[in-house]
Amino acid sequence: MSGDAASLPRAHFDDLWAGEQDPWGLESSWYEDRKRALVLAALPEAEYRRAAEPGCAGGALSVLLAPRCAELVCTDVSDTAVERARSRLAGFDHVRVERTDAFPPGRFDLVVVSELAYYFGRADRERFWATVVDALEPGGTLVAVHWVREAPEYPVDGGRVHDELAVVPGLGRVAEHREDDFRLDVYARVPPSARSVAQRVGLR
Ligand SMILES: C[S@@+](CC[C@H](N)C(=O)[O-])C[C@H]1O[C@@H](n2cnc3c(N)ncnc32)[C@H](O)[C@@H]1O
Repeated sequence: MSGDAASLPRAHFDDLWAGEQDPWGLESSWYEDRKRALVLAALPEAEYRRAAEPGCAGGALSVLLAPRCAELVCTDVSDTAVERARSRLAGFDHVRVERTDAFPPGRFDLVVVSELAYYFGRADRERFWATVVDALEPGGTLVAVHWVREAPEYPVDGGRVHDELAVVPGLGRVAEHREDDFRLDVYARVPPSARSVAQRVGLR
């Protein structure tokens, strides 16, 4: 895997969604439940003004993010995923789910990129992270979490995604969590310089 392969096309995801109710076992595995709990626990702020979750699938993570955000914009490239997410999030008037492969317009104080960026080829990854950084308000939070075990069908492995993210300009790391299966990194949009959670709540 060189990291130079092309992004996986929309048809790849349409086929997966057409073939299975829950293509990645997001709805049915303790592994995913636990990982979502870690993502939520890693958010440095209790509440966010406007959040984005690109690649939301059926909304299993979105439904947990929704109570922490005044507004949440979820996107997915697949019609089936969007239908599922819309139905799951129907009770939340402040959540929108859009069918698109583009990053949603406007500014955000939270962006959650969970199990998505390894589907992008190198040029698309660079563009994607630059767009995310531009969309983040100063001090805003970026959470990235990706599987790091072998996945030969992906253009790049998850570890490399996180190594590349570590040198993207405009981000300062707030937290990192590494396991044999996945990496989770939390960044703040800098400047101003990244603050720890204790600094945010006035403990030091
Ligand atoms: C593995 S799922 C991740 C779901 C969710 N973020 C989570 O971690 O529970 C990846 C999702 O990304 C979607 N996807 C792939 N490429 C995309 C793109 N360029 N823009 C938006 N969604 C995309 C797929 O259709 C799929 O539903």
